Amino acid sequence: MMVLVTGATGYIGAHTCVELLAAGHDVVAVDNLANSKVQVLSRIRELTGRDVRFYEADILDGGQVDRIFGENAIDAVVHFAALKSVPESVAEPLRYYHNNVTGTLNLCARMARHGVRRIVFSSSATVYGASVTMPLTEDAPLAPVNPYGRTKEMIERILRDVYESDNAWSVALLRYFNPVGAHPSGRIGEDPNGVPGNLMPYITQVAVGKRQELVVFGDDFETDDGTGVRDYIHVVDLATGHLKALDRIAAGPGIHTYNLGTGTGYSVLEMVRAFERASGVSIPYRIGGRRPGDAAVSYCDPTKARTELAWTATRGIDEMCLDSWRWQSQNPRGYEAG
Ligand code: NAD
Ligand code: UD1
Repeated sequence: MMVLVTGATGYIGAHTCVELLAAGHDVVAVDNLANSKVQVLSRIRELTGRDVRFYEADILDGGQVDRIFGENAIDAVVHFAALKSVPESVAEPLRYYHNNVTGTLNLCARMARHGVRRIVFSSSATVYGASVTMPLTEDAPLAPVNPYGRTKEMIERILRDVYESDNAWSVALLRYFNPVGAHPSGRIGEDPNGVPGNLMPYITQVAVGKRQELVVFGDDFETDDGTGVRDYIHVVDLATGHLKALDRIAAGPGIHTYNLGTGTGYSVLEMVRAFERASGVSIPYRIGGRRPGDAAVSYCDPTKARTELAWTATRGIDEMCLDSWRWQSQNPRGYEAG
């Protein structure tokens, strides 16, 4: 297939491009580089021996998106492009709704115009909000607690309406749990701007001496050790989930929702210990207050993806930590060094 990947130079996008190319698909990539670096592209080439056709463009720009569809015989779209910081979304809701929701509306309108009706969308476990029943199945109620999460819920709703209006569409809504890790080569990985908001990049930056200590956001949750429990998933497993989802939507029209996670939760302190084991580096930490909006526990039931997509996550937390560490230690300044 010729696959248009939006947000292709981002963390998950880059790993997915590598898997798509390795599986023999052609990739047309679009990104406005708002949260990624163009150097990613040469790393993807280095890993796969293949080029993607890259457009530095904004999905909000209808003319540019039209041009991309006009110049390439796109079979399907994998849509990662979005802004993803929760605190930023609280501070700047209009920017988040505009970029994520309007960007997707624009993309889908252009897809329809060019007769492309297959889309894999990056949703998030955040759409479930602080649900109390674990593990989360796809039919759990949706109750996102911040503007970022609400953009994901709205886009899911929009894509359902699009499918209702035209049953020729074929849509996969993928709800990611907590992506961590990096390509095992150490050549591509997560390269956040500024202070990382998520746990794993924060830990790896402490390990390379970029940050002094980890602050654990609360140890008084109702969990075994009191710290928050999450379903961490290796980014390469997540990437291969997209290939399976593409196969599913290529098989025929429909709309399908899948959790992509391992089904196992680990606490903050378990992750710290796993990282120390994998890296041999000790991670100083102190216990701080809870982060507003944080759930105690979140992990999924991945059965639906296993049975319908024949996909399952195979990499455990030791591999996640090892690969995160390889990436961070070999690229202490991320992609900056070229
Ligand atoms: P990322 O920020 O690394 O990648 C997103 C990419 O989209 C960036 O390269 C950014 O420059 C690009 N982009 C943003 N707005 C754009 C626009 N208007 N036009 C063109 N490009 C644009 O994030 P990621 O971690 O790779 O996440 C990918 C997707 O997965 C996002 O939709 C995110 O919301 C979703 N997601 C991520 C996580 C996570 O923990 N990383 C969890 C659940 C869902
Ligand atoms: C965050 C986002 C969520 C997004 C998800 C995956 C918030 C409130 N939620 O969720 O919308 O879908 O990332 O990208 O930001 N932790 C620390 N210290 C840190 C960082 C994190 O103790 O410096 C803890 C958190 O409290 C949590 C766990 O580590 O218990 C994981 O945190 P994080 O990586 O931010 O993921 P989520 O909280 O699941």
